[in-house]
Amino acid sequence: MINVAIDGPAGAGKSTISRAAADKLGFIYVDTGALYRSVGVYALRNGIDTKSREKLKEALPKIKVELGFKDGVQHVFLNGEDVSDEIRLPKSSMAASDVSAVPEVRSFLFDLQRNIAEKNNCIMDGRDIGTVVLPNADVKIFLTASPESRAMRRYKELSAKGAAVGYEEVLSDLKERDYNDSHRKIAPLKPAKDSITVDTTLLSLDESIEKITDIIREHM
Ligand code: DC
Repeated sequence: MINVAIDGPAGAGKSTISRAAADKLGFIYVDTGALYRSVGVYALRNGIDTKSREKLKEALPKIKVELGFKDGVQHVFLNGEDVSDEIRLPKSSMAASDVSAVPEVRSFLFDLQRNIAEKNNCIMDGRDIGTVVLPNADVKIFLTASPESRAMRRYKELSAKGAAVGYEEVLSDLKERDYNDSHRKIAPLKPAKDSITVDTTLLSLDESIEKITDIIREHM
């Protein structure tokens, strides 16, 4: 199977670019952030402190997270319920960042990610795919962009969905998540040694997709 790992900070365009590149190549696209977001949603719904390792550890046996693919689009199920929309709310993003710092949460989601990669040609995006989940991936890309341009894209995305958020709020949330994700002890966000860094600050979406697809094709 061909496995492509795409890591990078929030809002770098990982999901949009990975999905489009996967379409072009006929691979499935796996968004691993959705898994952490689902655990975050479980915690929020059940009044569990998203920063409490003990409480989260206790909750894990009650949580079942599954991924399904309908017409090539990933859906995520939390205890059988499709939570694909709810996981996108800003509060779910922050909860995901919190729960993702808990080692037991990471190991809980590890096998699921590995199993999908073993069975499918896929592009998997996240924070630790090239470093931890798929250290032997055929291609590893570290996708990044300036915080301001990432926040602007995220802001436009949320506004288009009708969310009442301001740009400044999105920027400060994003910086806080960047900090959390790259300073946690376990599997922090960092480029794998053998990854190719692509900065999309000055690239259009189409240019970014083309660049990533070209890199993958060159390595196949
Ligand atoms: O990619 P995303 O914004 O949907 O990810 C949500 C949170 O999940 C992010 O703040 C960090 C965490 N995450 C992670 O720790 N490891 C991954 N492979 C994917 C996401």
